Amino acid sequence: MKKALITVCAIAFVSSSQLAFAQQAPEKVSALELVDMFEKLGGNHPGFRKAHASGVCATGQFLPNPEISAYSASPLFDVDSVEAVVRFSMGSANPSADETAPGARGMAVQMTLPDGSKHTMAGNNTPFLTGKDPETFYGFLQTLLPNKDGTTDPNATGAYIAANPSVLNAVKWSQTNPVPSSYSREKYFGIHTFFFVDNDANELPFKWTFIPDLGEMDITISEKEGHPTQFLKDKLVSEVSEENVTFTLVAQLGTSDDVLNDPSIAWPDEREELTMGQLMLKTAGGEGCDGVNFDPNVVSAGFKPSDDPVLKMRSAAYAISFAKRLSNQ
Ligand code: HEM
Repeated sequence: MKKALITVCAIAFVSSSQLAFAQQAPEKVSALELVDMFEKLGGNHPGFRKAHASGVCATGQFLPNPEISAYSASPLFDVDSVEAVVRFSMGSANPSADETAPGARGMAVQMTLPDGSKHTMAGNNTPFLTGKDPETFYGFLQTLLPNKDGTTDPNATGAYIAANPSVLNAVKWSQTNPVPSSYSREKYFGIHTFFFVDNDANELPFKWTFIPDLGEMDITISEKEGHPTQFLKDKLVSEVSEENVTFTLVAQLGTSDDVLNDPSIAWPDEREELTMGQLMLKTAGGEGCDGVNFDPNVVSAGFKPSDDPVLKMRSAAYAISFAKRLSNQ
């Protein structure tokens, strides 16, 4: 992510001839190629997740808002609460990622419904993906690969961004978003469109966000100096033992004006919002989430994933990573 900070500045200096020679996004990319790319950038770490390698498990209880049953036939909204396995993480494939550096943090939740079915959500604190589709995302990552001499070329990344404007929202976000002081003090965005499906099969598009009830809080510059580079896990464990750490799950409703399959853009702020429920963390630490594949397409009846090509690609990529890490690759 630090590299991305440098590169945006470089966009301003991209000439038209550089633009003409900007690296192209590949025509097609596979889930395996994306997983390989994460390993090239973050290193090969057998047994770890191939993205979001460093993280902390938690358990919680989700208290659904029964009013959502007007929009979704999910059995989730017929009960008072369900148990959830939760994992917070740093976005990179490096299990020793510097937690005082900017960049993506993740929150993954898997609820078990009374009928035994699962409802899975995995979002990032970034409201956008770096690219409108897997190919544009891959092309961007390609520009961050070091050359033979170990250096990267910010101008190549700048030229790529200028030629592929759908990466710009996420890159700008990474320039301006401060470092969160705790996993419990950050918002997490589902980014993709999902649908509520009611008993008559009516579909209503939405995007979800987990909002921290303790409020957002960043590390200040003075705190950052002398701050340990790994602190997020211990901090969450102590917070959960000392206070109520909760998140409100909010659905932003889409309209016929909104694009439903592009994770590089957000919908307008004025869209209607519904509270879907509240997640209360009960424990933090341990290994309870290590064997979980937080595939965001595994949703309960009464929900439907959209055709967003990035969302579709995620199932295959997570399955590859899951198989690799369970076999210690
Ligand atoms: C093509 C795009 C993407 C690819 C290829 C990809 C790939 C991966 C992989 C391989 C893992 C590790 C899975 C495991 O071993 O269990 C992972 C984890 C994760 N990803 Fe993605 N991802 C993509 C997009 C996204 C987006 C858009 C978000 C946010 C909305 C996201 C959020 C997460 C989170 C939170 C985790 C950690 C889940 C956990 O704690 O187990 N990813 N991703």
